Amino acid sequence: MTAQPPFAILSAVPMPIVVTDARERVLAVNPPATELLGKNQVGHHVVTVIRQPPVLHAISECLGQGLQTEARYVQKDHVHETLYRVICTPVEGGGVLVSFQDVTSQETAGQMRRDFVANVSHELRTPLTSIQGFIETLQGPARGDAAAAERFLATMAKEAERMIRLVSDLLSLSQVEGEERIRPTERVELHGILKSVIRSLGPVADAAGVEMAIEGGTEELWLRGDPDQLVQVFTNLAENAVKYGGDGGKVVLSVHDVARDPILGRGAVRVDVRDFGQGFDEMHTHRLTERFYRVDSHRSRAVGGTGLGLAIVKHIVNRHKGRLRIESEIGKGSCFSVLLPAG
Ligand SMILES: Nc1ncnc2c1ncn2[C@@H]1O[C@H](COP(=O)(O)OP(=O)(O)OP(=O)(O)O)[C@@H](O)[C@H]1O
Ligand SMILES: [Mg+2]
Repeated sequence: MTAQPPFAILSAVPMPIVVTDARERVLAVNPPATELLGKNQVGHHVVTVIRQPPVLHAISECLGQGLQTEARYVQKDHVHETLYRVICTPVEGGGVLVSFQDVTSQETAGQMRRDFVANVSHELRTPLTSIQGFIETLQGPARGDAAAAERFLATMAKEAERMIRLVSDLLSLSQVEGEERIRPTERVELHGILKSVIRSLGPVADAAGVEMAIEGGTEELWLRGDPDQLVQVFTNLAENAVKYGGDGGKVVLSVHDVARDPILGRGAVRVDVRDFGQGFDEMHTHRLTERFYRVDSHRSRAVGGTGLGLAIVKHIVNRHKGRLRIESEIGKGSCFSVLLPAG
């Protein structure tokens, strides 16, 4: 039995609600509360219905003082944890109305924000600490030592450059995230984009002794997209291939027609960015697009990586309603494929 008059109106409320009398016996339970707490609760003492002490305490306090009280209620099953903010409000004539507000998504968002701030602070602190150390050395032990100053200043310039790159990556990430729901409408030609990526990465590839090439057909391929963002996607992927897979000496970009991609559910164009380097264990693949996630953070930092490149790629690909596929085999190399809806 659920809410009876005068509580029938509670059935229309989407959040779980329990009403008790002045002796903490359950008078009414609306359907969402039945789902949360189980059936046949009316008439029982609230202790047997809501078994979490903080909530029971809040109910007693509310009854005792006639004031609104609050508590948290956590519901766990095998996979999920749902967090409720419970508000106990005194009811006229004695009794309490207990409402459960699901605050899981706010809590998760809050946690993500805190993690993000902690990560950014950590990433900035390392170069700042190093610059501070050099300044102190130049002011103290190495004062007047021109050779040391020269060396330290070069390192400090590098650290400053790293911070600038981090901040500009963060800005482009937030810009891309902001636009994620706005679909691009421009028509762009894919081969032109890939050629310009190879051109601009030429010096980086040369310095690393890596040959970069486009393989496969070269006929014009038009699709709907944001040209600057697509350049960024393939630049990030090709740059990674050179930086982390450059040992193979070769990076190949190739374009393929996909008649029907089962996940996108339609025809697609696939661009593979393949290297023949060290590769990485499969366990990393699903985390690579997380912000600041690196397979080998030492190596990534050594080559000036901020760990944001693939996060940016993922958001841009999402905005284009496409998908990113990552394959890698240790010792053989990696292949990052971008699938974009055709047409
Ligand atoms: N082709 C690849 N071969 C091996 N590891 C790779 C490859 N591409 C990416 N990775 C790994 O994935 C991690 C994340 O890459 P991502 O591009 O997001 O960050 P980054 O290159 O470290 O920094 P950024 O791109 O912001 O300068 C890298 O640190 C590296 O460990
Ligand atoms: Mg990168």
